[in-house]
Amino acid sequence: MVPAATLPCMGATSLEHNARVAVDTGTSRYDIVIGSGLLGAPSSWDGLPRASRAVVVTNTTIAPLWAARLRAALEPHYAQVSMLELPDGEEHKDWPALNSIFDHLLGTGCDRKTVLFALGGGVVGDMTGFAAGCYMRGVPFVQVPTTLLAQVDSSVGGKTAINHTLGKNMIGLFYQPQRVICDLDTLTTLPQRELIAGLAEVIKYGPIADAAFLEWLESNLDALLARDPEVLAYAIRRSCEIKAWVVGQDEREGGLRAILNFGHTFGHAIEAGLGYGRWLHGEAVGCGMLMATALSVRLGLVQDSLLDRMRLLLGRAGLPLNGPALGPVRYLELMRHDKKAEAGEIRFVVLDAVGRASVRPAPDQDVAAVIEQYTASAA
Ligand code: NAD
Ligand code: GLY
Repeated sequence: MVPAATLPCMGATSLEHNARVAVDTGTSRYDIVIGSGLLGAPSSWDGLPRASRAVVVTNTTIAPLWAARLRAALEPHYAQVSMLELPDGEEHKDWPALNSIFDHLLGTGCDRKTVLFALGGGVVGDMTGFAAGCYMRGVPFVQVPTTLLAQVDSSVGGKTAINHTLGKNMIGLFYQPQRVICDLDTLTTLPQRELIAGLAEVIKYGPIADAAFLEWLESNLDALLARDPEVLAYAIRRSCEIKAWVVGQDEREGGLRAILNFGHTFGHAIEAGLGYGRWLHGEAVGCGMLMATALSVRLGLVQDSLLDRMRLLLGRAGLPLNGPALGPVRYLELMRHDKKAEAGEIRFVVLDAVGRASVRPAPDQDVAAVIEQYTASAA
């Protein structure tokens, strides 16, 4: 797959605290703002759609930590600001939780100019975006991501969804936010396990798109794990630049965008196979990236040395290197529900070189061999 536009090089790693990254899909254009103290900064809210109503959708964990600060920032701009707290957890990324957003919007008389604010991780962001895209055929929404994963991936690019028992993120739509506000301060309350899960999606951008970023991550991983704010800010900025570059060329995943699902075909099978919420999404993706790299080696696309690098980096990050022992047959069955599958043929994101990926089918026996190799032996 040959990308049509060239990815801008890594900026001097002058580790800026405040940065703006533009997303331009051709049909919508918005900024990702990255920095500290953004919830309290008036500039974060300038230029957003004005309305009498704002609704903050969050969850029961995040609300006590960050909702008051967001409410204080919004009150000067909106006559009425209401809050909706969803139950926390991937297992609640479902119809009842989505419907509770519609209940709140309709029950409190929100009109079609109401602006929704998604305050939370990928679960809140994906559901709020989905609700915004459907409510009265579409109302504006703003992403205020509070997990590393959401700041580098899920809040950007307009994919919204809920899960189905037969597959993850199977019901949803593309609907772009008006702005993404990544306030690094919110990461200060994030549990370390969640930070590590988010690092999986950061690491993803190196092998698929940017060899120099992979090297940078190998050098700066310890500082990231220690939450050095400047190093975190740079990792978020570079991840967003890469995601914006991909989404700008292929908003609807007609081709290139599928590379962002590196590790996800295996990872989604792990999540669905175990039941949502057992492994964190980023943990499943981390393990899935190792499996996908091993598959790339098996298919003769890349050298063993890249597999060694990925194993070392993911292991240093503290991500699981072995999937659950569901057995190859069950993995393959679950993977046939992947959205990249075509007529039942599973299509994998594989690496063609360090920093370059493509999507292709693979023989079942190679996939099964990788699964055997990278799953914990059954107890
Ligand atoms: P999450 O939304 O479940 O958040 C993780 C946990 O951290 C939750 O318990 C949450 O309440 C808590 N939390 C969030 N922010 C916090 C903070 N600042 N302090 C303390 N606790 C905090 O999980 P996630 O990893 O952010 O997102 C995973 C979801 O994102 C999955 O559903 C996945 O499918 C989706 N996703 C979507 C896209 C996309 O393009 N739309 C991309 C990647 C992942
Ligand atoms: N997280 C994959 C995508 O946004 O396409």
